[in-house]
Order: sequence, then structure tokens, then C-alpha cells
Amino acid sequence: MTTLVVDRIGLLVTNDPALGDGPLGILRDAALVMEGGQVIAVGRSGAAGDEHVDAGGRCVLPGFVDSHTHLVFAGDRSDEFAARMAGQPYHAGGIRVTTEATRAASTDELTALARARRAEGFLAGITHVEIKSGYGLDVETERRCCEVACSFTDDVTFLGAHVIPVEYRDRPDAYVDLVCTDMLAACRPFARWIDVFCEDGAFDADQSRAVLSTGREAGLGLRAHGNQLRAGHGVRLAVEMGAPSVDHCTYLADADVDALAGGDTVATFLPAADFSTRQPYPNARRVIDAGAPVAIATNCNPGSSYTTSMSFCMALAVRDLHMTIEEALLAATLGGANALRRKDIGRLSPGARADAVLLDAPSYTHLVYRPGVPLIAATWSAGSRVPGRSGDERWPVNG
Ligand code: NIG
Repeated sequence: MTTLVVDRIGLLVTNDPALGDGPLGILRDAALVMEGGQVIAVGRSGAAGDEHVDAGGRCVLPGFVDSHTHLVFAGDRSDEFAARMAGQPYHAGGIRVTTEATRAASTDELTALARARRAEGFLAGITHVEIKSGYGLDVETERRCCEVACSFTDDVTFLGAHVIPVEYRDRPDAYVDLVCTDMLAACRPFARWIDVFCEDGAFDADQSRAVLSTGREAGLGLRAHGNQLRAGHGVRLAVEMGAPSVDHCTYLADADVDALAGGDTVATFLPAADFSTRQPYPNARRVIDAGAPVAIATNCNPGSSYTTSMSFCMALAVRDLHMTIEEALLAATLGGANALRRKDIGRLSPGARADAVLLDAPSYTHLVYRPGVPLIAATWSAGSRVPGRSGDERWPVNG
């Protein structure tokens, strides 16, 4: 077995306070040692190994964990984005436009489209993704989307309850029944999670509860889209049902913050969606100060947030959600892992999956300080170097 050493690291973020300074567990002049797909040691520069990479004093951190994406879809909605920038409001009904294109695409086409987006994420330092279905909205297309997602990650989320499709417009409860019966049965073999868009214009609190309860009975973990477009029931419902994560959290009332405070449900902020839909930004500071666990994710999707850049999300989280730079980095790594209830990723301590990123910068501050600049010099996924833009197509599975 080959032992790989990334040596002469100026600043190594381990996210393990037992290994280094502060909540980020920082080590200076450090080495990261990987073997068999795992981190086997961290320590001072000069560690022994079979292969060495000279970090040249630059910064190494855990790969980003993107706990909310919708990478499987076809079609283009750039016109919708342009109209929003010209003053039109965002509305969830745009999801149906993507549904039409996704239903018409073959499974091979959907796989190729998702692969290209996943490759883009690797180049941006994302070493683990959650991927949702939700643009099929019929049994066969939802099944195909979950199957496609499964070739890129073991964190697949069944989101049949994204919106009511056109053909069920006058029979929303019949659609909820379909989601909870045939669609769930078809998607269950590929999924680890079930999600619902709990919002006016999508699914109300009772429908959302029915979807999540049925998913739980089928053995799936729970997630929810909540309080994205206005105040509502999503956050409190997710907390009440013990969901590991409730995502968006843009409009938070005091009662929502109280519900999240000191609990286990991660408030996952998706600041690129607030950016791209011209919504107000949530005040993450309030949630963090209340003692709630938080994460940030890209929410890569064609409607509200077409980005694979976690560093862009970090920059928004710091500037507009009032997180510190350290909080934003933790939220984009360990926070995402926590939102997915995973212990094997989001940190660089012995036993963790060897998912690491070398920055072309002396510290993680540059990710926020230099917005829009591609600062990822190298990425390792389970100890294997991910090919760069000019590399081949051997993208790691389960990354
Ligand atoms: O997370 N809110 C629901 N789903 C996506 C938006 C999907 C779309 O507009 O296509 C989201 O923002």
C-alpha cells in the first residue's frame, strides 16, 4: 500500500480541536499522511512515506462537503435568471420547466450532465456531495434520477415532493399519495434520504408531514426545504420530526430560532440561492448564537442557484450572513458532514476519509478575501488525486 505525504504545509486545517489550535484544529509547518484512502497521521513536516507532494508553505483543508445539491437535471433556465435580474420575482413553478426537459432526456444524457457538474465541483474542492432527485416528478423519471445520482454519491435524496407536477395540478393529494406509494417504492433502493419542499405553492405542513413520515417508515433519513420564500412551518416541522437538516432557513421567526436552538437539526444555509433569487439573506449569526448547528451548501440547481462554488457560498456567508471566516469554513466542511450525519468526512484526523484540498494560498482566508478566483491547486478524494480540468474522465465514485 502506498503512503502519500503532503509535506511542508504552511497551515493545515484538521477540524479536530484535539489535534491543533482552536475549533479548526490548526497545525503549522505540517504534514498530512494518507494511506488506503484514509488519513493515517498528521504532524510536523518531514514525515516518512512512499510519495511526497510539496505544499510549499500553502494551506491544506478538508474537502468541502456539499450537503444540498440537485445535480441531475436537463434543460436551461438562464432566461428565468435574466428576467429576475431585470426585476421579476422567483417562483417555485420554474421547477416544472426543468421537469419537462428532464423527462425528455435519456438516462445516459442525464448521467453525462450530472458528471460534468460533479467534475466542476471537484475542481472547486467539493469532495463529497448529496444529490437530490426532484425534477422527474413521475415514478419512472424519479427512479432514473435517483439511479443516476447513485453513480456519484452514497448520499442520494428522494425528492419526489419537490412541487406538484402539471398533470396533478387539481389533485395535489393524489400526487402526495403517489409520492408515498409507487414513487417511494421505486426510488427507495437508491436513496438514503427523503426530502420535501415545505412551502406555500409546494407542499403544506400536513402534506410534508405525510411524506416525511412515510419515508421514515421506509427507512429513509429526513431532510426538508423550509422557510425559503417566506415564513412558514418547514423549520419547526423538521425539528419536531428530528430531521438531521432543514435547508434554506431564509425567513426565520423567533419561534424558528428557538426551535433550532441547542438541538440536533442542522440549519443549512444556501446563500447562493438568496443571491440568485434576490432574496434577503438570513442572519446566521442569530442562529449560531442561539447554539444551533449550522452548515452551508451550494444548492446547485438550474433555477435558484446554478453554482458549484463553495468558496462563493463562503464569501456570501461571511459578508452577508454574518458568519466569521472560521465559522463559514467549518460550516462548509464539518457542518455539511454533520447535516449528512457522517463521521468519516469533513475533518482531516486519523481514520477520516482522505478528502483534502491544497489551496494556492497561504490561508483559508483567501477563499473569502479573493472571491471568484479559482484557488484550488489540488484535490484528493479518498487519497486519490482528482484529475484537473485537462485530466481524464476517471472521477471518483462516492466522492
Ligand atoms: O432548493 N426550493 C426548491 N428547490 C430548489 C429550487 C429549484 C428550482 O427552482 O429549480 C431550491 O432552491
